[in-house]
Amino acid sequence: MLNDIIKFLKPIFEELELGDYLKVSSSDKADFQINSVFQIAKDKHVAPKEIGEMLASKINENDNVSDYFSKVEFVMPGFINLFVSDKLINKHINGYITNGFVEKTTSNDVYFLDYGGPNVAKPLHIGHLRPAIIGESIKRILNLKGYKTIGDVHLGDYGLQIGEVIYGLKKENIPLSELNIDLLNRIYPQMSALAKSDEEVYNECKRITSELQKGNAEYKEYYKKIKEVSVNDIKRLYDYLGVSFDLWLGESDSEPYIPKLMNELESRNLVVVDQGAKIVNIKRDTDKKEMPPVIVEKSDGSAIYATTDLATIMQRVEKYDPKYILYVVDARQGLHFEGVFRIAQMLGYTNNLEHIAFGTINGSDGKPFKTRSGETLKLDELINNTKEIFLSKREENKNMSSVDLDKIVNSIIKYADLQNNREKSYNFDIAKFSEVSGKTGPYILYSALRIRKILTTNTFNKGNVSDTIYNDIDKNLRLKLLDFNKYLDKAIEDRLPSVIAEYVYDLANLLNSFYQNINISKIEDETMKNDYLNILDLSFNVLKECLDLLIIELPSEM
Ligand code: ARG
Repeated sequence: MLNDIIKFLKPIFEELELGDYLKVSSSDKADFQINSVFQIAKDKHVAPKEIGEMLASKINENDNVSDYFSKVEFVMPGFINLFVSDKLINKHINGYITNGFVEKTTSNDVYFLDYGGPNVAKPLHIGHLRPAIIGESIKRILNLKGYKTIGDVHLGDYGLQIGEVIYGLKKENIPLSELNIDLLNRIYPQMSALAKSDEEVYNECKRITSELQKGNAEYKEYYKKIKEVSVNDIKRLYDYLGVSFDLWLGESDSEPYIPKLMNELESRNLVVVDQGAKIVNIKRDTDKKEMPPVIVEKSDGSAIYATTDLATIMQRVEKYDPKYILYVVDARQGLHFEGVFRIAQMLGYTNNLEHIAFGTINGSDGKPFKTRSGETLKLDELINNTKEIFLSKREENKNMSSVDLDKIVNSIIKYADLQNNREKSYNFDIAKFSEVSGKTGPYILYSALRIRKILTTNTFNKGNVSDTIYNDIDKNLRLKLLDFNKYLDKAIEDRLPSVIAEYVYDLANLLNSFYQNINISKIEDETMKNDYLNILDLSFNVLKECLDLLIIELPSEM
């Protein structure tokens, strides 16, 4: 719509030789506003009132003004308020109805997304929720716009935890064929605790891990099985959350690129040996904070986190050469990524590497979410607790099908999370976010189901709306629908699912006020009724699409 408005105003401004000054933005005082009056007044040495009134009357004198605006007026101290005409709004609404409501990109840019980042052998806990759902949501948002994406889970499968589990299995003489998820969930924490308190065990686990990395056949067998059992469980939880990946690669898959990486670093004279370890200095003169060197090889010759991340960049660029690589990872890894990105740049990579950072999930007390016994909450526990709390809220919740219940649990968890600007930490107050009122997932689902009910209980001719808009509630709803692409683009630009969460909440509120004020079944005017139902149909489609972007599905009833 804004494009149309600019196209109309442009010749008017140009005739006055003010073409460069045409700036239209949204406003809370009007549908749109021209706010360059001050600038013109300043440059041309005239009073804002004079130039503003002149511009407003030039616009009003145009023969086609009523196609675009219902009202154009200058207001002190220096703005021109624009109220769009019903005709213009409906032209665009009909465009949405006929051609779809998403303005697709024509770009072929490829976005590579690194999200999830679970670790083989360790159970998923609350800390794994945000990378999975923020990453999945950003991927869906990009896809809706028409961008190509590749999602990689980037398993943590190159660390000490593998050696610890192998050590535990061997120590207890457990045949590999008996390994299952319950056993894994017992052995890993036990061995990890043991290795922390017993240096001999720690060294043995380290030895096994490094033997494994060097290709020890027996350990490789163990590793294969551990990975299989663990990844199956990880997939079960991601399935529950509707999170999926194109690639199930891990840190260890970058191994073939490590020698090449080390060669590249050495040949560019970037490596310094420091107490036996190989490090790269990344400090720049302009740095305001401490930028410690990055270790790329430990004194025992082994690779670490930064090494595999760098080797993985080589791998991804060689295979896909994406324009962007987005790392959806905890903000506390900021320094790690800063270091990795700087080294990639030193190696000549020009792909855009971005750390999509997020804060932590806290309990209602504002402290990192813990179980009563002080442990980190497992993802399974989080899901079960949420389910229980929702069930205890209302008697009728207990009659829901388990499929519906799971969809609602998902909406509670995801909307609680994705409504926050990801960079901030937030308090997950399950009771509050399980309510069917307030800024919650269930509230939005409930609003959507009400509209679906109207659409299924009334018959109408699907198609274009007439030229009329019937009242302010109706107008605001239509304008909100036309705003969709602005929000979609903003969500992409800032990599922020919360922009969509905000939009869908506003839309749900407008739909509820429509519901409370307009009783469709009582309307006798056929055109009006049909227009309303087409607007609701479009609203429902937009709402459902937004929920899909937030990985939330509609239950059959609530
Ligand atoms: N596995 C890592 C962790 O648990 C997260 C991986 C994030 N992705 C990456 N390319 N470093 O902290």
